[in-house]
Amino acid sequence: MAGGKLQAPRGTFDVLPADGPRRAALRRIAEEVFAAAGYGTIDTPVFESTELFARGVGETTDIVQKEMFTFEDQGGRSLTLRPEGTAPVCRAYLEHGMHKLPQPVKLWYWGPYFRHEAPQAGRYRQFTQVGIEAIGSLEPSLDAEAILLLAELLGRAGAKGIRARLSSLGTPETRRAYSDELRSYLRAHESELSDEVRGRLDANPLRAFDSDHPGTRAVMQGAPKLLERLASEDQEHFQSVLALLDEAGQVYQVDPTLVRGIDYYTRTVFEFTSDALGAQSGVGGGGRYDGLIEQLGGPATPGVGFASGIERILMVSDLEAPGAQTDVYVAHDGDGDPREAFRLLRELRARGLSAQMEQAGRSLKGQLKQADRIGASWVLIVAGDGVRVRNMRTGDQVEGLSAEEALGMVG
Ligand code: HAM
Repeated sequence: MAGGKLQAPRGTFDVLPADGPRRAALRRIAEEVFAAAGYGTIDTPVFESTELFARGVGETTDIVQKEMFTFEDQGGRSLTLRPEGTAPVCRAYLEHGMHKLPQPVKLWYWGPYFRHEAPQAGRYRQFTQVGIEAIGSLEPSLDAEAILLLAELLGRAGAKGIRARLSSLGTPETRRAYSDELRSYLRAHESELSDEVRGRLDANPLRAFDSDHPGTRAVMQGAPKLLERLASEDQEHFQSVLALLDEAGQVYQVDPTLVRGIDYYTRTVFEFTSDALGAQSGVGGGGRYDGLIEQLGGPATPGVGFASGIERILMVSDLEAPGAQTDVYVAHDGDGDPREAFRLLRELRARGLSAQMEQAGRSLKGQLKQADRIGASWVLIVAGDGVRVRNMRTGDQVEGLSAEEALGMVG
């Protein structure tokens, strides 16, 4: 029984043939940029056990509390469509004993991710991330490398209006002590804060820096900053990262109010935005996560990385990519043998040419029009009196050829 017309779920989109070439071109750029820096590819499953994200991303985050697509399998296990890639990559690092490999282990990925957010321009429920993770080293050069690789990817993709913001979150202990200090400060100004911020005061006072509420913003101006409370080794680590970026000529802004929506970050955090995007201005972001692997049951192992939404990159970039080219179109005039046309088609492809043939019952005139539409350089016409070869650039035509002669002319 036929029902109404079906549509893709809200917040999802189809990648149509016209969209394919730009995505493929961006992927080639990513591959080149990351391979040159020693990153190998990793692909993890699209779904994981729910516990991985509860433990990795953090129970109190929006992602875990509101945005995960979670379901039970037939065996009653709770599974979740991955909302992000860092926890899965760290799970794979542990599961495959990658700590036995020379460190750091450098990995890059590209694939679909899922978050149940309110859909709007640039914000989807299924989107594609490209990202890297460098696991097994505390070196500040890896933090700087991650930031420079994201900048290079965006630069080579032609992304417009890009700005980079950076901060350091120090260690969880520093953050706890700072949260207490900030909470006391906010309590002293409670009547000036928005209801939302007041409601979150106990769980996550840092989120107050994200508020648009004018009263809250005024209070936050005078709030103590985490960057001013870092332990000296964390401060030194951050300064080393900044020095490397300065030397590389990377432009950035240190923003002590930068907070990210995931709990695993320690030390360096960064976010790249584009002025060309609307409210969803985040093009890419990342940072260090020195406690994550331990959180997932492994030995203490540091790591750093980033991810970027490829739909957002393409929205702000002028990356151009040509569509598929057709070298030869095989037509037939009604007297010719259609099986001979199909044989020629296969032979052309075997010779490394891109070839198409008439498969919609057009008249010869319609076939030549179609060959022109798809930009074919040559047309082979299988006719009753042999094969004709037409040069579509010049309009010249040679008639009465054998199949071999015709193939020789276009190959
Ligand atoms: P994230 O900031 O949550 O970080 O996401 C990274 C990027 O994914 C965002 O900057 C944005 O471009 C894109 N993105 C996120 N949500 C959506 C959405 N609903 N629609 C379209 N694009 C979206 C992470 O996911 C971390 N795993 C990054 C990381 C890697 N940190 C360390 N290593």
